[in-house]
Amino acid sequence: MKLINICGARPNFMKIAPLMHAYRSEPTIQPILVHTGQHYDENMSRLFFDELEIPRPDINLEVGSGSHAKQTAMIMERFEQVVLEQKPDAVLVVGDVNSTIACALVSVKLDVAVFHVEAGLRSFDRTMPEEINRVLTDAISDLLFVTEPSGTDNLLREGVARDKIHWVGNVMIDTLEKNRTKAESSPILEKLKLEPRAFCVVTMHRPASVDHPEVMARLADVFAEIQAELPIVFPIHPRTRGRLQAAGLLARFESMKNLQLIEPVGYLDFLKLMAHAAIVLTDSGGIQEETTILGVPCLTMRENTERPITLTQGTNRLVGMDPSRILSAYHEIRGQGPSASRRPDKWDGHAAERIAQRIAQWRPDR
Ligand code: UD1
Ligand code: UDP
Repeated sequence: MKLINICGARPNFMKIAPLMHAYRSEPTIQPILVHTGQHYDENMSRLFFDELEIPRPDINLEVGSGSHAKQTAMIMERFEQVVLEQKPDAVLVVGDVNSTIACALVSVKLDVAVFHVEAGLRSFDRTMPEEINRVLTDAISDLLFVTEPSGTDNLLREGVARDKIHWVGNVMIDTLEKNRTKAESSPILEKLKLEPRAFCVVTMHRPASVDHPEVMARLADVFAEIQAELPIVFPIHPRTRGRLQAAGLLARFESMKNLQLIEPVGYLDFLKLMAHAAIVLTDSGGIQEETTILGVPCLTMRENTERPITLTQGTNRLVGMDPSRILSAYHEIRGQGPSASRRPDKWDGHAAERIAQRIAQWRPDR
């Protein structure tokens, strides 16, 4: 089976890596890797290929940044040529970024099967671009690989046939388990002069927060208060840097004595930072899952999550973007120490193998 695999943005690389490795045990699968170029900075893309030992992409569409319509359209236009030339049997997409929906849509219109990894997650918040990408991608997928039981429930409720849905676990956790020991050798704590369990990690990139200067100004007050007693390290996403700069807020963040604003770091450095943090404050999707496995308290600065198992079994807690709510959760956790968590079923480091095995058995029904 000729299988095109799509990656494009940072969180895709952790998901595609274990799949590319798992295909090696399935000789009937002939994988092709396509990078859309949605993310392109060295530390948002190439670094992950090296660290996670992902083969070089066979094809790079080099679309770069743009508005949603422009970026999605450019991926579609360029990927259509690839599908016409390569004639794959199926196309595999991961996650919920613009590259995911763009390539899924091109494929289904050319009558090529679509496999979606991380299907069924729902925040039920249609103002999130990712929610639109998730709902649409799932509606046109032939095989839907689910990370947690809520995914199956959501898909069944939306009318997806049960035999298309496969609860396989979480490929993001495959990558975490594979790299956990290696990450311990990262010198990042010494480099940033951080003591284990005595610092906080912050990441933010969602439009709902970083695109609103008034929200970011309030969050700056929160971070100012926290860093006065607990050092903060904040690897800043390029979108966030751009927005803070435009809003005239970057200097405020840079001026905080115990807040280190650093460039995005590679996976191994970031894993080491998370694993040894006292608290992680984030609006990321994937980080909610990783902190659950690491047993590190995670305060998610959102009102909802598409990953509810991280709330019920993991260390995650929704705190929204209201300063008093964030600070009261922060103080509560500081008083408590490390969080208890239960590993969600099938988050065992073998999800990609299960996916590859299922794909190897797949036969088109049209
Ligand atoms: C995208 C995804 C989001 C995901 C996030 C992970 C969509 C709709 N959004 O958001 O779901 O959580 O990636 O990080 O697909 N930029 C650079 N260099 C890069 C990449 C981006 O400077 O290598 C800057 C550009 O100014 C760009 C902006 O970041 O306009 C936003 O990039 P984009 O890919 O459109 O969305 P993200 O916010 O990164
Ligand atoms: N990550 C990283 N370096 C950083 C910040 C995050 O390697 O500086 C990793 C993180 O461990 C997780 C992934 O990037 O594996 C999450 O990506 P992101 O937050 O950009 O996207 P989301 O998960 O929100 O879609």
